[in-house]
Formats: sequence, structure tokens, C-alpha cells
Amino acid sequence: MKTVAIYSSKGGVGKTATAVNLAYAASVSGQRTLLCDMDSQGAASYYFRIKAKKKFNSDKLLDGDIARNIRGTDFSGLDLLPAHFSFRNLDLALNELSKKKRRQALAKLFAPFAEEYDILFLDCPPNLTLLSENIIEAADILVCPVVPTTLSLIALEQLLKLFKKLNADRNKIIAFFSMVERRKSMHLATMDKYSKYPLFLKTFIPYLAEIEKMGILRQPVGATARQSPAARQYEKLWQEVLQRGEPV
Ligand SMILES: Nc1ncnc2c1ncn2[C@@H]1O[C@H](COP(=O)(O)OP(=O)(O)OP(=O)(O)O)[C@@H](O)[C@H]1O
Ligand SMILES: [Mg+2]
Repeated sequence: MKTVAIYSSKGGVGKTATAVNLAYAASVSGQRTLLCDMDSQGAASYYFRIKAKKKFNSDKLLDGDIARNIRGTDFSGLDLLPAHFSFRNLDLALNELSKKKRRQALAKLFAPFAEEYDILFLDCPPNLTLLSENIIEAADILVCPVVPTTLSLIALEQLLKLFKKLNADRNKIIAFFSMVERRKSMHLATMDKYSKYPLFLKTFIPYLAEIEKMGILRQPVGATARQSPAARQYEKLWQEVLQRGEPV
């Protein structure tokens, strides 16, 4: 099993849209896929019309009580661990663990699923905290959506800084441009300047109304219209992530 975290400390950059659509693309290509919604906002769970059981919470997650909380989605080969509102306390709970266990807790939790799934996706909350350190530790690949604007790039710089502090392998980081609006000169100029860096994939995700509409239709774009521009672009993104990260 390879773990792919969709991560940025910046909010609203398209992490959840990416996690949902890449997980769907992976499952369609035959990978046994588990998507874990790590964000207490529960947006990924919402897109699949799934709610966590009332009894599930952040303590149970950290106790490893995961298997019975995983739910099947409407799509074959794609399961979901829904977020619970209490996940907002994950950082506090992680902080209470011994120093030795604190950073590896998440990686240990998902290790028992290594035989059952080919790919584990983590939809991450917009944080730069102990939970983020756990995510970095657990992930084989960190896919980072970057809106081609200054603040989004700063988030990427902060991530690189955190990698340095943790002495983590920065080859894990794969960035791509997200929510691109070609009519905005700043977007074009930023992409022009940064796309030469090997950190960035060639594929980018444009700002598309059909991606926004996922909030109404509540399913991955490929499930609504397989041949739509958005579905094709996410498929292309997944193929490039696979090529770059060789996760399978
Ligand atoms: N490529 C896109 N084109 C148009 N709308 C998009 C695109 N990507 C995401 N959106 C919309 O932008 C909003 C934010 O996207 P999303 O929830 O995926 O971001 P996020 O990084 O997960 O946010 P958060 O940090 O709050 O978790 C959502 O309403 C989503 O539908
Ligand atoms: Mg999100």
C-alpha cells in the first residue's frame, strides 16, 4: 500500500476536490483504494454522502478502532473513512502521546491496512501542526495543490521549511497548479516562473464550474461525466503522479 496525502497548509486550494477525484481515478483504474477524511470539516465525506457513526471519534481513531468505521462508497474499489467532528482535537490528542510515539502515530494506525488496499489517500486539513508532521511521516507522496498566487506559494515554502526541520525526504513532495484561471495574468506569470522547477507537475487543474458543482451533485466529476474536461484532467493528474511517484 502506498500512502498519498493531499496536503497544503493553505485553506481552499482544492485539496478535497483533488483527494476525491484522484481517489476515484485510482479506483477506476483497478487500485483498491481507501480515502481517509482527516479534516473535521468532513468535506470529502460529504462528497460521498457518508457520515461517520456517532460513536466514532478522534480517540477511537488514535486507538486504532478504524476497520469498523470504514464505509463502502457508491463506487467499486473505493472505500472511505469518514471524518468525525472531534477530529478537530487530533492535534491535542497527538500531543498527549509520548515524545517517541507522537510523530509516527498516524503511520502506525494505517499499517494494518497494507494488504487490503493498494492506495491510501489522506485528505488533510489546512494545518502546519503536529498532525501535519504525522502526515509527512505517514505519506509516501505529498501532493500539494498550489493556486498560482503568492499566498499559496508561501504555503509551499513553509512546507519545504518543515521538511528541512524534520529532516524528511523532500522528494516526497509533488506540487501542481490548482484552480488555474488563464484569464488572470498573475496566474499565467506565476506558472511561467515556477513550472520550470521539477517540484511541479506539468498537469494543472483549471478553475472549472463542473468541479465547483461537486458540492451539489455530491460525486466525483468522473462519475457524473467520465469524458468531461475536469474528469480527464484529474485522470491525467493521477497518471502523472503515478509516473513521478511510482507509488504502485
Ligand atoms: N479546480 C476547481 N475549479 C473550480 N472550483 C474548485 C476547483 N477546485 C476546488 N474548487 C472549489 O473551491 C472550493 C475549495 O475547494 P476544496 O474544498 O477542494 O479546497 P480545500 O483545499 O480542501 O479547502 P480546505 O482547506 O478548507 O479543506 C470548493 O467549493 C470547491 O468546490
Ligand atoms: Mg478540504
